[in-house]
Amino acid sequence: MILSIESSCDDSSIAITEIATKKLIYHKKISQELEHSVYGGVVPELASRLHAEALPRILAECEPWFNQLKAVAVTNEPGLGVTLIEGVTMAKALSISLGIPILPINHLKGHIYSLFIEKEAILPITVLLVSGGHTQLIEVKSYHEMETVATTMDDSYGESFDKVAKMMHLGYPGGPLIEQLSREGDATQFAFTVPLWQSPLIAFSYSGLKNQVRLAVEANESSAYPDIASAFQKTATEHLIQKLKKYFKSHPPKRFAIVGGASANLYLRERVMELLAPHKAELFLSELTYCSDNAAMIGRAALEAYAENAFASCSDITINPRCKL
Ligand code: KG4
Ligand code: ZN
Repeated sequence: MILSIESSCDDSSIAITEIATKKLIYHKKISQELEHSVYGGVVPELASRLHAEALPRILAECEPWFNQLKAVAVTNEPGLGVTLIEGVTMAKALSISLGIPILPINHLKGHIYSLFIEKEAILPITVLLVSGGHTQLIEVKSYHEMETVATTMDDSYGESFDKVAKMMHLGYPGGPLIEQLSREGDATQFAFTVPLWQSPLIAFSYSGLKNQVRLAVEANESSAYPDIASAFQKTATEHLIQKLKKYFKSHPPKRFAIVGGASANLYLRERVMELLAPHKAELFLSELTYCSDNAAMIGRAALEAYAENAFASCSDITINPRCKL
């Protein structure tokens, strides 16, 4: 079995995955959303301290499996430096005390492999990764061959939901709150410009849209927030759809997936389904429980790393907060 640890942002999570069957034996996650909510975003030092408290509590429940562990997997990149170190330090301690190797796992690969928890991987696949830290279009050929074909020039899709929720004093994380508020609103009441709509670039940008929304929030009473939220969600998603459409002209999709915390957005899922219909492409989605950060996806990615002996020792594992894929 492999024990996997995730602490790249504000979720403390540990999972145990059986190597031979890919079965998830144990999975627990303690979210810090409530603690960060008052600040309207993640406070890194607070997150770090909360991991230091939550991770050992979860680990204590895993003790019955300790003698069956062949490796300890841990997210070592990308993420917040002060929170990654909590998971990596725990992985080092387990490695030394149990005499097992470490599997360093890239968080973005974890999100991609969240599609294949308890399943065989089906590759190649084109993946849209939308989370709080990333908005990327990725061609995935294998665990090692992943090419980012488009990325954001500034903010990410999920982050823009967090920022808009903060402007409206709704709390954190903003994604689910804005999605819910949008249902009560009328998107036609506000006309926001779709980012980069005239640009031939296949890239993403959310900073301009965020400013348009800020001006609308400042100029209107809170009774207009549902309409603003709805128009924002529509425009933010239309931007993804326009760029995907452009990309599909030269790279028609056969298999397509949306992963990352923001892939839970049902409006986005519907829009992508419409877009894929004429291509007769198959859409892959993670289960809702595995869209946001979790250790089960890290454990699933670790099965690939284990098969390739991609081990690290305590002395050579590094933390790379800004690393991409
Ligand atoms: O993957 P994740 O848990 O953490 C990162 O790796 O960043 O993603 C969290 C992000 C947050 O920005 C959150 O607001 C966003 O995903 N999110 C959503 C939704 N649910 C979560 N964004 C839009 N709509 C949602 N329903
Ligand atoms: Zn993530």
